[in-house]
Amino acid sequence: MQHVKPTVLVTRRVPPAVEARLVRDYRARLNDDDSVYGADELLERAQGADGLLVCATEKLTADLIRRLPPQVRICATYSVGFDHIDIAAAKDRGLVVTNTPDVLTDATADIAMLLILGAARRATAAEALLRRGGWGPWSTMFMLGSHVTGKRLGIYGMGRIGRAVARRARGFDMIVHYCNRGRLPPELENGAIFHASPEDLLAHSDILSLHCPASAETFHFLDARRIALLPDGAIVVNTARGTVVDDAALIAALKSGKLAAAGLDVFENEPKFNPGYLDLDNAMLLPHIGSATTETRDAMGFRAVDNLDAYFAGRSPQDRIA
Ligand code: DGY
Repeated sequence: MQHVKPTVLVTRRVPPAVEARLVRDYRARLNDDDSVYGADELLERAQGADGLLVCATEKLTADLIRRLPPQVRICATYSVGFDHIDIAAAKDRGLVVTNTPDVLTDATADIAMLLILGAARRATAAEALLRRGGWGPWSTMFMLGSHVTGKRLGIYGMGRIGRAVARRARGFDMIVHYCNRGRLPPELENGAIFHASPEDLLAHSDILSLHCPASAETFHFLDARRIALLPDGAIVVNTARGTVVDDAALIAALKSGKLAAAGLDVFENEPKFNPGYLDLDNAMLLPHIGSATTETRDAMGFRAVDNLDAYFAGRSPQDRIA
């Protein structure tokens, strides 16, 4: 750590233990009311800062990055995803960017399993019925969902989180299929069945779980054409990013019965998501809580601060992406 504490603009409120470390080791500019800064406010508050600690709520566009005060040399994001940061522009500007991989893998995989099970077993419809007083005598045909045991789980994007979902799914005796940019070595593949094309994966997925990063290539990956390739009555789960799904196409397929159910933790334009989902009792909807455990959010914060520490100590941050 250099003698004069570096100044870091922390754009959102952070958990107490993370804040304590920031306050101890930096001149930390905190955001006590947790408001989301627009571009101009962020630029104004960044004056005189040496680094930024941002969240996925801050859009670091090429324009904003170009307008950052020259003193700002590093941007640590409190997220594994970095689609909110224009990485090419950061590289051009010489802005170091880091993220927080690994530490949210388990929490996010758990939420994917919650959505897989909840969508298959109609948890949203069943709970809503109970809450509105519609629970009658036990009956053999009441609220029938589908088994996950023995079903084919198609994982699109077999990175850390995809593989953690595969591990969990094996515990439920599901058969794991996957598609990834390249085939994994046997120790990582762990018996999962590789498909070289997304189209082939879709045709073999009773349940499809999305784990790819958001990018220009994956924008609206799951559109009407690809939904048509899924088996009738399939289930779609998304814990990656909302932009990976074409909402209109997914809503139409959930309404028509082409798809049995969906489980979604992320939405395009969240938190202002497509209201069409609210009319569907076969969609289990969560407000982007994939990494929302106390343990994980502390670990993400510490990982982001580790990256800042490394940079300001003259070392290369372990999670450098630009
Ligand atoms: C992540 O870390 O990318 C989570 O989705 C939170 O933004």
